[in-house]
Amino acid sequence: MPAVRILCLSGPNLQLLGKREPEIYGKETLPEIHARLAARGAELGVEVDARQTNHEGTLVDWIGEAGFPGEGKVRADGILLNAGAYTHTSLALYDALRSVNLPTIEVHLSNPEARESFRHVSRIAPACVGKVCGFGAESYLLALQGLVARLRTITG
Ligand code: DQA
Repeated sequence: MPAVRILCLSGPNLQLLGKREPEIYGKETLPEIHARLAARGAELGVEVDARQTNHEGTLVDWIGEAGFPGEGKVRADGILLNAGAYTHTSLALYDALRSVNLPTIEVHLSNPEARESFRHVSRIAPACVGKVCGFGAESYLLALQGLVARLRTITG
């Protein structure tokens, strides 16, 4: 049986983690977070495929491929998604998540609801099974743990 596989997607400007507004997002870089996800995934017995792009359409492509394996190179049992600013704007990402039957956790390093009012709306939240935000880089790790627990509850 193939290993459980988690797709972790990060959107625009998250390649700048460590340099970008460290007082809000922390000092850890995205490669460091990806390394921690891989290590935690190994402990939990799952594979983590972690990617970043600044392009909304690329996120849509990856989600669609993950939902319909065989049509693309991406395969996943669940998704962690930090869509960055697209969180607050993207109907295309909402539609992509709705189009695939993969449990998705919305992830943010900061707590968007404690920030500017334009960050209070999440377009993707209604298509997600849960959300982890406000814990800095730990949000990704906590979300991974929650998603794996959920997948194990569903699949037994
Ligand atoms: C973010 C929060 C978003 O509002 C913002 O646009 C980001 C990062 C976070 O991880 O805290 O780019 O998703």
